Amino acid sequence: MYEQISHAILNDILDELGPDLNQRDLRHFYVRLGANFYAIHSLFTHLYGDRDDVYEQLKALIERLARAHGDRPDELRRVDMVREENHTWFLSQELVAMALYCEGFAGDLPGLEERLGYLSELGVNMVHVLPFLVGPEGARDGGYAVSDFRRVDPRVGTTEDLRRLSESMRERGMLLVLDVVVNHTSDEHEWARRARAGETEFQDFYFLFDDREVPDLYERSMPEVFPETAPGNFTFDEASGKWAMTVFNNYQWDLNYTNPRVLIEMVDVILHWANHGADIIRLDAVAFLWKQIGTTCQNLREAHLILQLMKDCCQVVAPGLLFIAEAIVAPVEITRYFGEDAVIAKECEIAYNATFMALLWDGIATGNARLLSRGIQSLPNKLDRATWLNYVRCHDDIGLGFDDADIVAVGYDPDAHRRFLLDWFTGRFDGSTARGELFAANERTGDARISGSLASLAGLESALETGDDEAIDLAVDRILLLHAMILSYGGIPMLYYGDEVATLNDRSYRDDPAKAGDSRWLHRPVIDWQRMDRRHERGTIEQRVFASLQRMIAIRKTIPAFADFNNRELIDVAHPSLFAILRTPPDLSGEPVLVVANFGLEPVVFDTAEVGRRGLFRYGSVVDLHSGDVLDLEREPIIVPRCGFFWLTNRRPTGAL
Ligand code: GLC
Ligand code: GLC
Repeated sequence: MYEQISHAILNDILDELGPDLNQRDLRHFYVRLGANFYAIHSLFTHLYGDRDDVYEQLKALIERLARAHGDRPDELRRVDMVREENHTWFLSQELVAMALYCEGFAGDLPGLEERLGYLSELGVNMVHVLPFLVGPEGARDGGYAVSDFRRVDPRVGTTEDLRRLSESMRERGMLLVLDVVVNHTSDEHEWARRARAGETEFQDFYFLFDDREVPDLYERSMPEVFPETAPGNFTFDEASGKWAMTVFNNYQWDLNYTNPRVLIEMVDVILHWANHGADIIRLDAVAFLWKQIGTTCQNLREAHLILQLMKDCCQVVAPGLLFIAEAIVAPVEITRYFGEDAVIAKECEIAYNATFMALLWDGIATGNARLLSRGIQSLPNKLDRATWLNYVRCHDDIGLGFDDADIVAVGYDPDAHRRFLLDWFTGRFDGSTARGELFAANERTGDARISGSLASLAGLESALETGDDEAIDLAVDRILLLHAMILSYGGIPMLYYGDEVATLNDRSYRDDPAKAGDSRWLHRPVIDWQRMDRRHERGTIEQRVFASLQRMIAIRKTIPAFADFNNRELIDVAHPSLFAILRTPPDLSGEPVLVVANFGLEPVVFDTAEVGRRGLFRYGSVVDLHSGDVLDLEREPIIVPRCGFFWLTNRRPTGAL
């Protein structure tokens, strides 16, 4: 019945639009629209059904989809078809990503294109270029305050440069990830300027209020994201005399998705960049998309409906496009961003695995894997056609978002443990070698997060200061251990630029008024390419880290068990320092691989009884795929070095390095 109604509505819309859709081949468009329209219509009426103009708005959305389809280059249409036929392509162990600021990494977009060879040398084949669109002069939240969703910041290049970059990447078999900052615009965006000038049409794009009455109601239950620099969730705008909702910085106005025009515009922006060659779109701050008085305004059901709607629209125009959800939220919430379906992601195919990231750092600080092994069990299984983005560092801070119940279960007090971690990473804890800084410290609640480069947090900076070779070795081993984990856990490993050569903190941000208040700039480096050349000089730290990562990446790509098909099992290895997961190959034809890591500062004898029962070690000797070493169990026990790891398997698969 409803299907028939939606079908009739679709026919009406297409009849009315027909004469305008004077386009090349619309066949695929009609087929895909037919397949997705029921979902689009249901979601749209669910969200906007009580508006008088709901039909007109829906028609406007379909018209935008048709136009975007018309604009889609042939080459990308071909890619869509290939991916539709192999729809789990992105679960492969062959993908390895890096996130980077193109200014910091290579100066600008053409510079980045020139450096693609370097990325290939490392083995990276997916690049998240952090935002590079026009934003305000001065503070602009590292590109996340966007003033024009379609204009490249002239300082880094032009749309044409981006097109060339995406073509070069496609030729090299590299995927391009771009951001669409869906939650807010800068206060200089044209919509904000027109809202400020009194145009009610554009005031409806945001949450603007004449007085504090409604803002105060919201504030009662809304947490603060940047309590130090942008306290509260509303900012008074002098020009219009109104209070704007600004959940992040005071110059970032939250978009109002109760207005269907906002949704339509943002879908259009997503498709714009998809048509400019983005293979994957990272949707920023998706947990915040829907606001409702009396709630935290995070993870609301409507936020999920909006993401589903965005996904369905992209299925019509650019079915090869994937979404990454940037939702740094609790384990039980995070998997919901894949969608509620049993198998196929109906929202975002990829989500940041912030839980794993924070747990890995806990392992470094405590020197044991207790919380890591426990916390991993709180991560619900993901859908089959969905995957994690596993990372150690990114351009943002490290939040200590573990479950209190897990902290208690492993014998710590949650508050005391978090305080310990903050002290450890900022080097205040006795014996800590980390050199991080606090981020977003909230005096009222005592909460804080952590900034700092991977190498400095791992102890390299302090070790270099004291010239202590053993401490340097330890820091290098930690850097490699953390990468080994994201490369073998299952999902897409995402490196962060500079970490591949152990880049230290950059404190110059303190001298720049536009950055001084935001310690995340500590770990957003400007790459010194002369220093990068040291990766070819044997024995330098740059060479040790780069060459090791290069090798690990190459090996990962040859291990089918490292693809992500929910083929992971946590193994109880009965030692607090050890973390072990068994990875089985998806088609069960190859050998399983045991990932075992020692987070402790002493070598540990690995008790193989548990894995022995599962058929591993049945031939008496195993190979560490990482080092190539054969470990003969009959002769000696397996000893995992301090801050070391193995990728163990029964037989050396053909093709491994
Ligand atoms: C995302 C970005 C972060 C930014 C925030 C607000 O979370 O990763 O850098 O501050 O959005 O736009
Ligand atoms: C919070 C938000 C996340 C954002 C980050 C920036 O963790 O949940 O979206 O990236 O703050 O620091």
